[in-house]
Amino acid sequence: MPDVYDLLTAELGPARVLRDEALLDRFATDESGLGRFPPECAVLAESREEVELTLRLAQEHRVAVTPRGAGSGLTGGALPVRGGIVLSTERMTTIREIDPENLIAVVEPGVITGVLQAEVEAQGLFYPPDPASLAMCTLGGNVAENAGGPRAFKYGVTREYVLGLEVVLMGGETLRPGRRTAKGVTGYDVVALLVGSEGTFGVATEITLKLLPAPRAVATLLAVFGDVLVAGRAVTDIIHHGNRPRALELLDRTTIEHLSGRTPYRIPAGAGAVLICELDGDPEGQGAQLLRCAAACEAAGATEIQVASDERQRRDLWATRRLANPTLKALHRRKIAEDIVVPRGAIPAMLQRIDEIAATHNLVIATYGHAGDGNLHVNLLVDDPPGDPAREATIGRALDAIMRATLDLRGTLAGEHGVGLMKQKYLPWEQAAELIRLQRRLKRLFDPDDLLNPGKIFP
Ligand code: LAC
Ligand code: ZN
Repeated sequence: MPDVYDLLTAELGPARVLRDEALLDRFATDESGLGRFPPECAVLAESREEVELTLRLAQEHRVAVTPRGAGSGLTGGALPVRGGIVLSTERMTTIREIDPENLIAVVEPGVITGVLQAEVEAQGLFYPPDPASLAMCTLGGNVAENAGGPRAFKYGVTREYVLGLEVVLMGGETLRPGRRTAKGVTGYDVVALLVGSEGTFGVATEITLKLLPAPRAVATLLAVFGDVLVAGRAVTDIIHHGNRPRALELLDRTTIEHLSGRTPYRIPAGAGAVLICELDGDPEGQGAQLLRCAAACEAAGATEIQVASDERQRRDLWATRRLANPTLKALHRRKIAEDIVVPRGAIPAMLQRIDEIAATHNLVIATYGHAGDGNLHVNLLVDDPPGDPAREATIGRALDAIMRATLDLRGTLAGEHGVGLMKQKYLPWEQAAELIRLQRRLKRLFDPDDLLNPGKIFP
């Protein structure tokens, strides 16, 4: 009897049902660094019909399916931990529609986020969500993870821009929840439920996105601080002065030292921390706003303010910021990346706790992120050879302490990278058993046999 892999190959051809070990290698890992999980096969789908076929056959044969965009996720969401099929949407790259009159874009899931942004910007439009990996990540992945990014501070995360979806469920049934109108409250908000479901409910084959008119002017400044706690306090000061930047980003000393000499924008050597503050809107009055932000930074203790004077400098500054994650990863044997959020006013307290945890456990920790949102990427940088049980236990205790501190400060454990494989242990630390049970029931409703991205989110 032919197995599911033979059937898929017969339908789609061997070029799009990869079974060769060497070709499967790139589907065995993602950016989380959580290990290698080779699948039995990878399906390179090119249409909704092919996604339907894959999910129908996989259900009939009870084979696990792990959906995959670009594999840029940081919590292992795209790792096929139970083997089976990786269902890649990387070839579904058509932008089907950009409608300037109604401010809508309709895309296939494999469209790269940065590509859509460039396309809409060329028409005077704007798609705000800007995950740091926007040059490679896909909109399907962004929808699965409810991706954020620096501009989420003013504009919100991916969910705020997804109006409608075409989504295929396990078994091959297709649903079209949502709308293409600005408003709409018909029925439950199934789109909101699907966005951020980490590929465990269904596979999006078409995404209807809300666009905005492009802001007419953007201005960016970098404020240098001697100490990360001072920079942390400045975050609330800037906002209390009536400023509403679109991005307010923090980099600590360790992150800056890693970037130093490796990036297009040269952050002043010896900086204890920097804040990047970006404003957008109309050109009229923007100079005054920028001065007000600069004055707030200075009053909060900034030792130097640099203004990106032209588009090129702005680009270099953001390219530098986006290099934080890949640079930390490249320079260490292991980078364990947490993605916590605390109420904005608790940022200084959280930074203090992180310092104490690093000192107590003799660890190097680099912290950076979307300070305006209280969302800090806390990175444990480990160079010891793996496998020393005492060291592993120390790392575990440090991670636990970071999570405990986050919850003590009334924060949340995952800001924008999902729970995936990495943070399952901590889900019950934050959420009551009843709430987790309800979510498990939802999962069973969509996927009774636990075949779609199994082994994720729940402990
Ligand atoms: C960033 C990614 C890691 O903000 O979320 O750089
Ligand atoms: Zn981030």
